Amino acid sequence: MKNILITGVSTGIGLATAQYFISKNDYRVIGTIRNPDDGDKVYAQLGPNFIPILLDVTKMDSIKEGYNKIKLLCPEGLSLLVNNAGIAVSGPLKELELSDFEKQMDVNVNGVLRVTNTFLPLLGATLDAKIPPGTIINISSVSGIFNTPLLGPYCISKHALESMSDIYRRELSIYGIKVIVIEPGPTKSEIWSKAKKDSDKFLHTDYGRIWKGMVRRVEKSESSAIDVNILAEKIYKVYRKKSPSNRYIVTKNKFINWFTFYLVPDRIIDIGLKKALMKGIKR
Ligand SMILES: NC(=O)c1ccc[n+]([C@@H]2O[C@H](COP(=O)([O-])OP(=O)(O)OC[C@H]3O[C@@H](n4cnc5c(N)ncnc54)[C@H](OP(=O)(O)O)[C@@H]3O)[C@@H](O)[C@H]2O)c1
Repeated sequence: MKNILITGVSTGIGLATAQYFISKNDYRVIGTIRNPDDGDKVYAQLGPNFIPILLDVTKMDSIKEGYNKIKLLCPEGLSLLVNNAGIAVSGPLKELELSDFEKQMDVNVNGVLRVTNTFLPLLGATLDAKIPPGTIINISSVSGIFNTPLLGPYCISKHALESMSDIYRRELSIYGIKVIVIEPGPTKSEIWSKAKKDSDKFLHTDYGRIWKGMVRRVEKSESSAIDVNILAEKIYKVYRKKSPSNRYIVTKNKFINWFTFYLVPDRIIDIGLKKALMKGIKR
């Protein structure tokens, strides 16, 4: 049985991915949760091939504790690490509190660095490693390719993750460790409802009306978003590829997105976005 570690399996893409791998019968999934009740809930759902580990990606002590437990459980190493845990912080950069920006970066960027570096020995990252080289899959976003106004903190964090993934991929190639990025578009999960708690924060600013429209659009996009199981299947298939690409966009309207992200000049995008923002102000 191969051991795989997924961060953030309480809900969403992490939970679906844990479930998908377990359904294949060849994997023991170690999944991180922050709340022991979530561990019990997911264990009840996934059964004995699931091992919950309490771990907060912003806390080095908790990561080290998790590492020591997993090292004992998996002396043969990990075949796969999925850096999935993440949060979404949004709002106009001009109005943002620094602490909110720092929180975003601490989870989505520093958290990946902390977890990856801690677990690299279990992925075979030494020149004389007895452990076969593993794979790392980082869950980025289309927000790691395209910069959307009022989604700045999240986009910046995912752009940083894209860069970090490229650097890890090149540096870890000396050990034979693969690093792959998955870039989901809107996906049905709890990430936006978890973020919605303070959604009236920017209503009093120049961006108030645009913000209100954006919150409405996010609600709408939730209903047209893709199912987490599509992501889970993709992560599994990509992991199983002998020679995977560096990154995979997973969205509805893949071609339109790809065309917009890579072929439309910034100047044209800027004109369109300014028009939409001005319309939002007058609405
Ligand atoms: N949903 C989308 O539309 C979408 C699109 C593109 C990319 N993504 C990316 O997909 C990944 C998974 O998100 P999701 O949509 O499945 O959202 P989700 O359902 O909210 O799941 C996020 C997971 O991360 C965990 N987490 C949050 N902060 C953490 C921390 N400090 N330490 C450890 N775990 C932490 C959460 O645990 P708690 O339950 O304890 O908070 C939860 O298990 C994220 O990286 C996200 O950016 C999502």
